[in-house]
Amino acid sequence: MRLHSSLRISDTDCFSSSNLRYQAAKTHKKTLIHAIKYTNLPDALGYALTTWSPLDIIDVLFVTNLKELTQVPHKIVSKSQLAENIFTADIEAPLIARERKPGQFIILIISNEYGERIPLTIAGADPQKGTIRLIWQRVGKTTTELADMKPGDQLAGVAGPLGKPTHIENFGTVVCVAGGIGSAPMLPIATALKTAGNKIITILGARTKKLLVLEDDFANTSDELIITTDDGSYGRKALVTEPLNELCQRNPKPDQVFAIGPAIMMKFCCDVTKKIDIPTVVSLNTIMVDGTGMCGGCRIEYDGQPKFVCVDGPEFDGHKVNFDLMMKRLDAYKNQEQKAHELYEKEKCKIGLDK
Ligand code: FAD
Ligand code: FES
Ligand code: MG
Repeated sequence: MRLHSSLRISDTDCFSSSNLRYQAAKTHKKTLIHAIKYTNLPDALGYALTTWSPLDIIDVLFVTNLKELTQVPHKIVSKSQLAENIFTADIEAPLIARERKPGQFIILIISNEYGERIPLTIAGADPQKGTIRLIWQRVGKTTTELADMKPGDQLAGVAGPLGKPTHIENFGTVVCVAGGIGSAPMLPIATALKTAGNKIITILGARTKKLLVLEDDFANTSDELIITTDDGSYGRKALVTEPLNELCQRNPKPDQVFAIGPAIMMKFCCDVTKKIDIPTVVSLNTIMVDGTGMCGGCRIEYDGQPKFVCVDGPEFDGHKVNFDLMMKRLDAYKNQEQKAHELYEKEKCKIGLDK
């Protein structure tokens, strides 16, 4: 990356300066912000050091190559279905592909005309081809809309890489617990931990066999792979916490645990590891809107203090997260989300009826 330009943006034009759109996150007095644009430019890779003056003027140093940014469409290069309701796609995003690190995510918007932003983990990347890999579960309106797109279609905006990368080191023996679609964010982390010399024991859990994905990938990355399904249709009939508990009783006990999956799963994994004092990192999947620390949508309580998952995370020491509050906040818009999904499906059914 090279220093591209230095701009002065007043608060009145900070959303439309130089024909670009920015959002600035003020997190500390001396602030590290993500400069993110959601519309005119297709990519958003800008980290800027800012200070806020009494006149609300921000000095922004952009560390991006704008020429390159303007030439990047976010085309879906390939797309396939991995399991029931689980899809993967390679998306053109060369700058993100070059810069991303395990643990980071993007926020995408499908259309400029309508729609919402959703965060998805960068499950992999090919810097040579300039693509990033997304793996997502169809759960509501936007993930369904994404699943309905085809290779060649374009996304209106992909912002990233967002969030702090995973702290990777040689811990010794690491247990990676991946539940449901948590396997997507876990894969690049487990791979990086393996490369760093760790012994990897993976627990891969799903409700049922047809929802289990990435088994071969984890078999390649792991020294030991334990598969569980809630209904016993494949692997061991158990919740992931059962083998985790057994592994924690081994002598010597594991040095580190990573747990990614539904909030309730991460909460119970942390209950298991807290008792025997094994450090446990979780990757939180709170509701996100801007991804810059401004909207507060992703706020959690961590060690009694407020934190924003988008800029302070997404990974945290799981023993300090207030999961009960987090789960309450995840359900805050359930009614609206359900309605939006129903409307989308209804509109989809009408396509072609007027011909
Ligand atoms: P909706 O019906 O609108 O929502 C279903 C549920 O998803 C909601 O009840 C809420 O709990 C959650 N949700 C809704 N809107 C958002 C939002 N804007 N941001 C976050 N959560 C939301 N899912 C994957 O399948 N693969 C991933 O790799 C992945 N990575 C993620 C990484 C991060 C950092 C975060 C925070 C979330 C990630 N998610 C991932 C979850 C994904 O963002 C949600 O499933 C998606 O936003 C749901 O959108 P929807 O419109 O289809 O569903
Ligand atoms: Fe808005 Fe984190 S997503 S503050
Ligand atoms: Mg939604």
